[in-house]
Amino acid sequence: MKLLFRKFSCHKFSVAILATIFVLFSAQVSFAGDPNTFNRLMKAKEEKNLPPVRDGIHDPDSEGASMLQPPKEAFSNMVKGKAGNYVDWVKSLKQGKITPRYDRLDPNAKPIIMDLNIVREVKGSMPDVVYPHAQHTEWLDCSNCHPAIFIPQKGANQISMASILLGQKCGVCHGKVAFPITAKTCRVCHSKPKAKKVKNKKSAKK
Ligand code: HEC
Ligand code: HEC
Ligand code: HEC
Repeated sequence: MKLLFRKFSCHKFSVAILATIFVLFSAQVSFAGDPNTFNRLMKAKEEKNLPPVRDGIHDPDSEGASMLQPPKEAFSNMVKGKAGNYVDWVKSLKQGKITPRYDRLDPNAKPIIMDLNIVREVKGSMPDVVYPHAQHTEWLDCSNCHPAIFIPQKGANQISMASILLGQKCGVCHGKVAFPITAKTCRVCHSKPKAKKVKNKKSAKK
């Protein structure tokens, strides 16, 4: 499975859940009188990318946990991202900060990069979604998505934000091993503005 090397973002996800539970728990105990503790927007920023011995996933008493490279150290040279583990993996790959093997057994295997953008029109005011094959096939094999997740035919798949947030369609990876859905990442997928359409409507009226 080509996604193995990014498994740690799954851990990141669980850390977020654990951290939330912890914050909720400690909030009750220590800030009983503070009216803002129930408001997640007022919550202090959690510490990101904790070392394995403190991440709540690895056994801190195990020797192995302290032998693992802490994410902060591993990520220090990467291009910064907006969410998830705060690494822009696409840019980091492009700039050669990482050179992952495309094939686990063959160190010389090269990816078959397919440069094909699929635009999915979105009803309402959100910009349209551009699904870029290029940035995906740099890491992934066609068979990682076709045909199990997506029928390889433009418009043949029904995709909604709800299904993505439930971990289906794009959500099979986004929010687990690829950048998550947060207020800061909407525009990474919804990247095609609808300006043209509005202009056409206006000029049609004139
Ligand atoms: C990360 C997931 C993913 C990977 C990997 C992927 N695709 Fe796709 N592919 C999609 C999505 C999403 C669509 C759009 C489907 C839709 O609009 O309903 C699509 C559409 C297509 C289409 C239809 C294009 C059209 O105009 O109808 C073809 C052909 C295709 N993919 C081939 C490939 C090939 C070949 C590879 C490997 C080199 C590949 N895909 C890798 C997600 C992926
Ligand atoms: C991983 C990519 C991705 C991210 C990130 C993302 N979206 Fe979407 N969004 C999609 C796709 C794909 C669709 C389905 C488009 C279609 O109809 O084919 C969609 C559809 C929508 C729709 C149309 C109604 C619906 O539910 O299908 C709205 C509204 C929307 N997104 C809002 C948002 C907002 C707000 C954010 C940020 C919090 C966001 N999206 C982040 C991929 C994404
Ligand atoms: C099989 C896993 C997988 C699926 C399914 C998937 N993605 Fe991705 N996607 C990735 C990975 C891995 C990356 C690169 C790492 C990252 O940016 O977090 C990525 C990156 C991206 C990027 C960033 C490109 C850039 O230039 O930074 C966009 C946009 C994107 N995906 C949109 C989508 C949309 C829209 C869908 C659904 C139609 C989708 N992805 C489905 C794995 C997936």
